[in-house]
Amino acid sequence: MINQKELIEKAFDAQKYCYTPYSNFNVGAALLCADGTVYQGCNIENAAYSPTNCAERTAIFKAVSEGRRDFVAIAIVGNKAGLQPGEGDYCAPCAVCRQVMAEFCELDSFKVIIAKSTEDYLEHTLGELLPLAFTGKDLE
Ligand code: THU
Repeated sequence: MINQKELIEKAFDAQKYCYTPYSNFNVGAALLCADGTVYQGCNIENAAYSPTNCAERTAIFKAVSEGRRDFVAIAIVGNKAGLQPGEGDYCAPCAVCRQVMAEFCELDSFKVIIAKSTEDYLEHTLGELLPLAFTGKDLE
């Protein structure tokens, strides 16, 4: 199974493909499935702004659209264009992406890795980042 550093490297690989002409803020994500498969995503912006898709949701939607729903961890990197790995700040997932993660990932065990570089990262469970989550269980 891939380790944290390798997953972060895959997030940096994905960041290269971001489409960010409006914010110039480049995000990459790498989503690890229970079977070891990794889905990568980048942010994709739009002139109308609201159709913009975050890197995390790109990765999750790619995976779900290919039949995956069993997720272990996601690594996220993000910084203003022009910065090198390690120069930017941590890029925490937005609230919409946290909610989308909660649809498919276990609050107690799914790991969110927020990285400045392969050497410098934070690791939280989804539940730590989304306390008192509203999920499908509330609708049962
Ligand atoms: N962005 C992400 O891709 N993920 C996040 O969790 C935070 C924000 C993107 C959306 C937009 O393209 C740019 O960063 C600035 O908000």
